[in-house]
Amino acid sequence: MSATPVLEARGLVKRYGHVVALDHADFSLMPGEILAVIGDNGAGKSSLIKCLSGAVVPDEGEILLDGTPVRMRTPLDARALGIETVYQTLAVSPALDIASNLFLGRERRAPGLLGSVLRKLDVSGMRVDASKHMQELGILTVQNLGQAVETLSGGQRQGVAVARAALFGSRVVIMDEPTAALGVKESARVLKLIQDVRDRGLPVILISHNMPHVFEVADRIHIHRLGRRAAIVTPQSHTMTEAVGIMTGAVTVDA
Ligand SMILES: Nc1ncnc2c1ncn2[C@@H]1O[C@H](COP(=O)(O)OP(=O)(O)OP(=O)(O)O)[C@@H](O)[C@H]1O
Ligand SMILES: [Mg+2]
Repeated sequence: MSATPVLEARGLVKRYGHVVALDHADFSLMPGEILAVIGDNGAGKSSLIKCLSGAVVPDEGEILLDGTPVRMRTPLDARALGIETVYQTLAVSPALDIASNLFLGRERRAPGLLGSVLRKLDVSGMRVDASKHMQELGILTVQNLGQAVETLSGGQRQGVAVARAALFGSRVVIMDEPTAALGVKESARVLKLIQDVRDRGLPVILISHNMPHVFEVADRIHIHRLGRRAAIVTPQSHTMTEAVGIMTGAVTVDA
């Protein structure tokens, strides 16, 4: 298999004072795949994802998009490159409604002079599109997209965040623990959504502690340990027990 990775990292190092969060970590995401990233608490998964999404600038190493080195200094840089992220700490604005959350930071202006001169937002247009998109994704059964996000359940809020990433990610969608706070039914929906996103051709990076979820949807599994990639396995090549063994260091492998 010689395809160019969509997103690749080589030798990433990130230190926080004495703590080495990333210790020469490598990473690669292939076209059209769901790549799970697993690892113990503190292994450096979120740090890795923050580097790949522009939230953190690594001290060393390089990141390549479609084989070309990129420099991302802020999450906006990553978004501009088509990398859309749902963070572990949920980034929705509770007081805003669902449609506004979907278009947060990308608000559309009303057509004509109302938009260009008076800076009026195209609220109804955004609601129509938001509604269409939420229905397509089947993620929410919310009737009223004007409903404030703070009145939604945790799972529905997560649905909004995931929908936003799926809507705007054009190259890569990254999800850090998207099902952590969800019930069984809502988790199943989010997993289905992740598969839908993949099936539409967008590769997905899924960080999760939930082994059954990982083994259900991942094409490949990046196992992170002590700040770096310890192994890449697949649900076919390894059992959950073996993967957890590599994650905890009970089983050693060649990276
Ligand atoms: N902003 C920060 N300041 C100081 N130390 C940090 C910071 N962010 C992460 N670390 C440290 O870096 C290491 C890796 O943290 P990271 O959040 O990447 O782990 P993780 O694999 O995502 O863990 P979890 O499974 O708990 O989410 C930890 O030791 C953590 O304490
Ligand atoms: Mg984390």
